[in-house]
Amino acid sequence: MIKKKKLYYPSSDFKKNAWVKSKETYKKAKKDPVKFWEGLAKEVYWRKKWKKAFEHKPPFFKWFLGGKLNFSENCLDKNIETKKNKVALIWEPEPSDERPRYFTYYDLYRKVNKLANGLKKMGVKKGDRVGIYLPMIPEAVIAMLACTRIGAVHSVVFSAYSPQALQVRLQDTEEKILITADGYYRGGKIIDLKKNADEGVKDTKVKKLVVVKRAGNKVNMKKGRDVWWDDTISKEDDFCKPEVMDSEDPLFVLYTSGSTGKPKGIVHTCGGYTTQAKFTGKWIFDIKENDIFWSMSDIGWITGHTYSVYSPLLNGTTCIIFEGAPNWPVPDRWCQIIEKYAVNIFYTAPTAIRMFQKYGDDLVKKHDLSSLKVLGSVGEPIDKGSWLWYFEKVGNKKCPIVDTWWQTETGGILLSSLPGVGPIKPTFAGLPFPGIKFDILNNNGKSCKSGEKGDLVILPPFSPGLLRGVYKNTKRYKKTYWSEYGDEVYFTSDIAHKDKNGLIRIVGRSDDMIKVAGHRISTGEMEDTVSKIPSILECAVIGIPDEIKGEVPAVFEVLKGNWKKIEDLVVVEIKKGIGPIALPKKIYVVNDLPKTRSGKIMRRILRKIFTNEDLGDLSTLANPESVEELKKTLK
Ligand code: WTA
Repeated sequence: MIKKKKLYYPSSDFKKNAWVKSKETYKKAKKDPVKFWEGLAKEVYWRKKWKKAFEHKPPFFKWFLGGKLNFSENCLDKNIETKKNKVALIWEPEPSDERPRYFTYYDLYRKVNKLANGLKKMGVKKGDRVGIYLPMIPEAVIAMLACTRIGAVHSVVFSAYSPQALQVRLQDTEEKILITADGYYRGGKIIDLKKNADEGVKDTKVKKLVVVKRAGNKVNMKKGRDVWWDDTISKEDDFCKPEVMDSEDPLFVLYTSGSTGKPKGIVHTCGGYTTQAKFTGKWIFDIKENDIFWSMSDIGWITGHTYSVYSPLLNGTTCIIFEGAPNWPVPDRWCQIIEKYAVNIFYTAPTAIRMFQKYGDDLVKKHDLSSLKVLGSVGEPIDKGSWLWYFEKVGNKKCPIVDTWWQTETGGILLSSLPGVGPIKPTFAGLPFPGIKFDILNNNGKSCKSGEKGDLVILPPFSPGLLRGVYKNTKRYKKTYWSEYGDEVYFTSDIAHKDKNGLIRIVGRSDDMIKVAGHRISTGEMEDTVSKIPSILECAVIGIPDEIKGEVPAVFEVLKGNWKKIEDLVVVEIKKGIGPIALPKKIYVVNDLPKTRSGKIMRRILRKIFTNEDLGDLSTLANPESVEELKKTLK
């Protein structure tokens, strides 16, 4: 990388081989974004070409209308034609002494087809939802792809989510089948996943559980309901005719936190998602055929869908999935993995980078990380110190850092500098992906000047992979994304500003969402969960700064009378309602919470008290005295 003033540019060597090397691509795309995306879509394998590229009936829109394709065919069959025996997937188990598993494209193809046939035999049809509650094991990838083969809509639920969180999601999408596992390793322990699944399927429509044997822990198999994965696929044929899907048919649903308590089922469709996943990965990470791609994200998150698995496969490369935590059993496990497989592209979150940095540079120096070519960051803003450390110590000043902004809703990265073009500026995500039109709007709905903070929005024609709906909840779709600035402007809920070069920097969310270790958590959902404790009169949850995780939740609660051990109850309730990722760092019992005269709790003030910021005018509060008291409590 070449540094000029505060900006970084690719070296001539990198540029020479990059997929995109000049600003020309941006110009071309800007001129006619729809035509530009059509050009990219031509490299996807379609059974039937689309008739019309884009249709906009605000707030609804469609891409590649009339086009027909199958997603698994794009990931597997197309690659088999030219690289049948190339490794598609490497699985690194958590226990260091256990052997990794390698799957060639042909292996993966056969496994996927067998499971697809097995699922069909169980009665799964096109359009049916299938729940996937699996850890990071190859079967998760196989299960996802098998669904797409037969046109079933997968809904992956993060394996560390609690049974209750699983249940809420299953009730919403009404799955009849759930694919899960006996258990998995995390931090040296076996987590009993089947037990959680058994509890989570209560009061849902799930009739069958397909269970992968992973950890060998003892599980209860319910007769007539539960079947082993191996028995499901062993007798099946290794070819299953791919279901020909319409471009706009749903491909998958993935739940994400919403402003109100209930999570939202974000719906992605076949044609648009495939095109966007393929090309954002190819260009932003500069994926080449022989690359080894390791994205650390769990498949329970959108990054796990699009970049841990789908984009690398759509681009015919090799991806690694890792079962465990990157600092287990040794803090430099992640370096060991990069070295062992000669990883070329590494994608992680700032939280992980901060954690790695804390362990000290010596650990990194011990390893040969010279295979690395591109480094990615995702999920939360990255601070300059971490950016520089990542750039200097991990990438040896050679690898471009792509700070990628996107959301579960956008399906793929929409904002990031392209490594072969640049410029790359620390803490700035960079330029919109070619063909995407962003704006930053101020309170008057006007475009912000450079340096001015405002709401980040996306303008028509949006992107082929942007969500098409919230599962069975059009009202929520309209209200969340298309009401702030009218129904032709997609509201991201992020605050951003841009510099003179048009590079965009993300400041944070404007709603009550927080990013804990890069995981999206709704403080509203946490408040709903905590409020279930009978002794709690009212509560407020805010995100407070944390050195490693970026942000962590803090709970403030007002009790009905005197209660002991309330902290324990809160912890239990959050574990039960959401899962360990949402556990609060601090729990404060207070007498009162600052409120407006209409009774709205002012979370903003709580946050400012915490970070010692100027509180501004408090005269609109109904109970300004509560602020003084809180200040004392927080000291
Ligand atoms: C935040 C994750 C700063 C942002 C892919 C967004 C980021 C939310 C970045 C979506 C980034 C994501 N820099 N902030 N590079 N990437 N975010 O749905 O607030 O889990 O709205 O998708 O993460 O989180 P989600």
